[in-house]
Formats: sequence, C-alpha cells, structure tokens
Amino acid sequence: MPGLQKARGLVTSPLGSFCRFFFYQIRSCSAPSASSVRPVIAAKEPFPVDLIAEKRYAWCACGHSQKQPFCDGTHKKNAPEMSSLKFTAGESKKAWLCGCKYTKNPPYCDGTHKEDFVQKADLHSQPQV
Ligand code: FES
Repeated sequence: MPGLQKARGLVTSPLGSFCRFFFYQIRSCSAPSASSVRPVIAAKEPFPVDLIAEKRYAWCACGHSQKQPFCDGTHKKNAPEMSSLKFTAGESKKAWLCGCKYTKNPPYCDGTHKEDFVQKADLHSQPQV
C-alpha cells in the first residue's frame, strides 16, 4: 500500500525528528555540566601511535594520565566522574590519537586542537569553552 507508506512517512518523519530532538535534549540535560568533569588539555597536538589489530586500548579521556595518549588510571583520583575510552583497532595502522581531549571523534584527532579555545588555553588546564 504505497499510499499508506507515504502517509506513514509523512506522520513518522516529523515525529522521528521530534523524538530525536526530545531525546537529544534529555541527554543534554542529563549530561554533567560542572566544569570539573571537563578534561584538561594534555597536549595541543595529537599523538602518533602504531596501533595493532585487535589489541584493546584505553585512551585517556580526562587528560591527567602520565602515559598519554593512553590511560594510566589517574582519572580515578583526579577526575572520578570520567573514565577512559576503550577501543580496539580493526587493523594495524598508524593513527593520530587526540591529545587535547576535545576531539568530536574520540580517540582520533579531528583537528579540534587547532581551535582557539585549545591553542589559547594553558596545558593541563580546562579551556574556556
Ligand atoms: S589533538 Fe585533539 S583534536 Fe587534535
């Protein structure tokens, strides 16, 4: 019934958009907003690493680790609300892992470190965002 599918599409598309917006708002509202949960800048450039296929890694998301770009457990003391990002490389490859901790594609660098809020901030501090 193409007419019904078309009608359903007309009904569900706006509803789907509304639901996405609604759930986005809920997620945004429930997300921690205190400045203490934002990461500190570990570096203002990415870290080149040779990832090994199928090996599990824990990328430091808080910026406090002394083993950048990987987690050393320091978040448990310095940023207990945060945790590392566990990931597995699908293939062995060279990768650029984010050092500023503000990438939108963690754990990989997406160029965010070039933005003023990172470049003008002090290392090991939370930038003004
Ligand atoms: S180092 Fe964080 S986005 Fe590049």
